[in-house]
Amino acid sequence: MEPFVFFGGKGGVGKTTVSCAYARKCAEAGVDTLVVSTDPAHSVSDVFDQQFGDVPEPVDGVDGLDALEIDPEDEVTAHLDDIRNRLSDQVSAAMVNEINKQLEMAHQTPGAYESALFDRFVEVMKQSDPYDRVVFDTAPTGSTLRLLGLPEFLEDWVDRLMHKRRQSIDLFEKAAIGNNEPRRVMDGDPVLARLQERKEFFEFAGGALRNDAAFFLVLNPDQLSVNETDRAIGDMAEQGLPVRGLVANKLTPAPDDEENGRGARYLRDRIETEAERLDQVRESLDAPLLAEIETRTREVKGDLLGEVADELAVDTDVEAPTFVAGSAGD
Ligand SMILES: Nc1ncnc2c1ncn2[C@@H]1O[C@H](COP(=O)(O)OP(=O)(O)OP(=O)(O)O)[C@@H](O)[C@H]1O
Ligand SMILES: [Mg+2]
Repeated sequence: MEPFVFFGGKGGVGKTTVSCAYARKCAEAGVDTLVVSTDPAHSVSDVFDQQFGDVPEPVDGVDGLDALEIDPEDEVTAHLDDIRNRLSDQVSAAMVNEINKQLEMAHQTPGAYESALFDRFVEVMKQSDPYDRVVFDTAPTGSTLRLLGLPEFLEDWVDRLMHKRRQSIDLFEKAAIGNNEPRRVMDGDPVLARLQERKEFFEFAGGALRNDAAFFLVLNPDQLSVNETDRAIGDMAEQGLPVRGLVANKLTPAPDDEENGRGARYLRDRIETEAERLDQVRESLDAPLLAEIETRTREVKGDLLGEVADELAVDTDVEAPTFVAGSAGD
C-alpha cells in the first residue's frame, strides 16, 4: 500500500467521513498518519470535534494521527499573491497594474481554485516525511489530473523558453558598456530558475501520484452516484492513475425479520433497489467494491467513526515512501 491515499467522489457521498475513518484505522494499526482535508466547511474539525488549521496538529484521543485542514479560498489568494510578487520583481511598474487586473480575473476562474489546491497537495506530499501515510479527503479531478501531462509538454516548452531567455541575457551582457553591470545575467536568473522549478514540481507530482499513491472512490447506492463513479474511473485511467477500489456508503440498514410494518416494508424495498445498484457496480465498473457502509441514524463522529472504520475493508498496510522529500523544486 502506498504512502498517499486519496478518497474522491461526488459532493456529500461521505469522502470526509470515510477518509477520517480510514485515517483512524491506519493510526490504530500503528501507521503514523496525517489526514488532510480541503473542505471549506471544515468537516474534519467536525468529525473529530476539534479545530484544525493550516499546520498539522495531533487528533485528541487517537495516537499516531494528525490532521490538517486546508482552506481552498486562502490557497487561491496565496497562490495568486505569490505569482504577483514574483512578476512584480521582474517587470516595470507600469506593468504591475495590468498584472493585478489580470490576476483579479484569474481568481474568479474555476481552474485557479483547482490548480492552487493541487499545488498545495503536492507541497503536503513533499513535506510528508514525518508520516508513513497521508490520507487526502478529496481526489484530484480529471481536469486537475491533466496538469500531470504537463512535464513532458513543459520539457520542450521550457527548453525553448530557456534558450530564448539565454539569448536575451546574452544580448544584455554584450550591450553592457565598459564597466557597467549588464541588466540581466545568466547566473541566478529568476525567470530561468522559476521555469525549472515548475518543471520539477510537476515531475515530482506525476511521480508521486503514479508510484506512491492509491486512489479510492466513495459512492452512494443510487444511479447518479454510480454513473458519476463510472466516469471518474475512466478519467483517472486516462491519466494512467487506476482507481484501486470503491467504498459504498450510506446503505440502508435492514429491519429485523419479524418486523412487517410500513417502515420495515419501505426499508426492504429500498434495500432491494440499492442491491441492484451495487450489483451494477460489481458487474460493470472497472474497480472492485471493497466496503459497504450502512447509514447511521446520526452524523458519523466520535465512537461511530470507530464503528465505520471497522466496516471499512480497505487495507492499511504501508510501504516506506520511495521518494525523497524536498528533492524536487525546493
Ligand atoms: N454512513 C453514514 N451514516 C450516517 N451519516 C453519514 C454517513 N456517512 C456520511 N454521513 C454524513 O453525511 C454528511 C456528508 O458526509 P461527508 O461530509 O463525509 O461527505 P463529503 O463527501 O466529504 O461531502 P463534501 O463533498 O461536501 O465534502 C455528513 O453529515 C456525515 O456525517
Ligand atoms: Mg468533505
